[in-house]
Amino acid sequence: MITLNYTQTQNCVSQQEVHALKEKAMQGLKILHDKSGAGNDFLGWVNLPSSISQAEIDEVKSAAAQLCKGVDVVVVIGIGGSYLGAKAIIDALSHSFSALQTKAERKAPLVVFAGQNIGEDYTHELMEMLRDKSVSCIVISKSGTTTEPAIAFRIVKNFIEQTYGKEEAKRRIVAITDKARGALRTSANIEGYKTFVIPDDVGGRFSVLTPVGLLPIACAGFDIAELVRGAKDIEENTKPSVDFEKNIAAQYAAVRNALYAKGKKVEVLANYNPKLHFLAEWWKQLYGESEGKDGKGVFPASVDFTTDLHSLGQYIQDGERMLFETVLSVGKPKRHATVPYDKEDLDGLNFLANKHIDEVNKMAELGTLLAHVDGGVPNIHIEIPELSEYTLGELIYFYEKACGISGYMLGVNPFDQPGVEAYKKNMFALLEKPGYEKETAEIKKRI
Ligand code: PA5
Repeated sequence: MITLNYTQTQNCVSQQEVHALKEKAMQGLKILHDKSGAGNDFLGWVNLPSSISQAEIDEVKSAAAQLCKGVDVVVVIGIGGSYLGAKAIIDALSHSFSALQTKAERKAPLVVFAGQNIGEDYTHELMEMLRDKSVSCIVISKSGTTTEPAIAFRIVKNFIEQTYGKEEAKRRIVAITDKARGALRTSANIEGYKTFVIPDDVGGRFSVLTPVGLLPIACAGFDIAELVRGAKDIEENTKPSVDFEKNIAAQYAAVRNALYAKGKKVEVLANYNPKLHFLAEWWKQLYGESEGKDGKGVFPASVDFTTDLHSLGQYIQDGERMLFETVLSVGKPKRHATVPYDKEDLDGLNFLANKHIDEVNKMAELGTLLAHVDGGVPNIHIEIPELSEYTLGELIYFYEKACGISGYMLGVNPFDQPGVEAYKKNMFALLEKPGYEKETAEIKKRI
């Protein structure tokens, strides 16, 4: 079970100041559940874990089995919420060097991602690597019109059709999109692909527990039922009927809002396990897109420790005091490695001989926490006992729930993202997309 500890924020906010926000946090939680707040047509995720049926999980598993049969690589195409959740969970659960493992060692195809950037080198190098592999593809876009995944899908679809023929392509491509609208829905219907629907009331960044996340995660060989079970337990434990004192989602939302009100404008999510790098990327999207609007919002940043203690660690310890830190800690590692004893001790490391690497890591974590608190950085501590499907399911739902509450406490609609459109409008104008003639003429005057 996840634990939350914010006793080390008292260098900035007192327990009383956090508790003063209790009513507001519980009110935010209530309106999430009774669907009376802003963006209330996007609250399908709130009861998602408890409403997913066994039949739905089985359908995802069977689609994964079909897609993975005899396949070396599954290319998952999507961006933002149609990519980060699956990437976060797969990275957290995979062998750190899974790309170097054989398929038999991995017990699943290699899952790679495309359409999350418009890198020409990335695209070329991906297609180069796919050339002699058996490939299938999951293409994900709720709107069905996002440019980055659309470009990648055109390329991967061409490759699959040319390599295996149009008929076999139907077995190798699954589309996850809106039930009726968008170019991806049109093309999936015409080509006859297997499809999964992203529910209307679940926005991209809250969609990891729909087939958007579940299908890629199942293809990577992980237990999606356990993921959902973890999420379901936290759904239960963060209901409005659970008191603030026991409700970790309401507490996290309250403490980060209390810190924000005291001028702590940046939250740095720190992990001490490199497998969590993309969990932090997912978290940044969730909080950044949900809260950063109307001139408000905590800026979500992340660091991988101890790696980044040798770079951003200096700023966190000693730079401008507008930060608070949330450490995402993992109780114990899955595997074991120790520091060997050395008779010569030329490197002076024998004081660590026979210690587990994780013990050294944990002391770095504790020492850093105390140093950062001493340096004026309030610290929130979130811990999961280990990395597993169950604990990651807990974490995903915990962060989603706290994000909704926190956004309501801040006074924004956490479920829209109007700011994302500005770059698209300019990009289309610059690329002279039909329909953007006026914008093209205007933007050309500026450059
Ligand atoms: O959270 C969101 O809504 C966004 O990040 C979207 O997921 C992202 O823009 C991709 O959109 P789509 O799935 O429509 O291609």
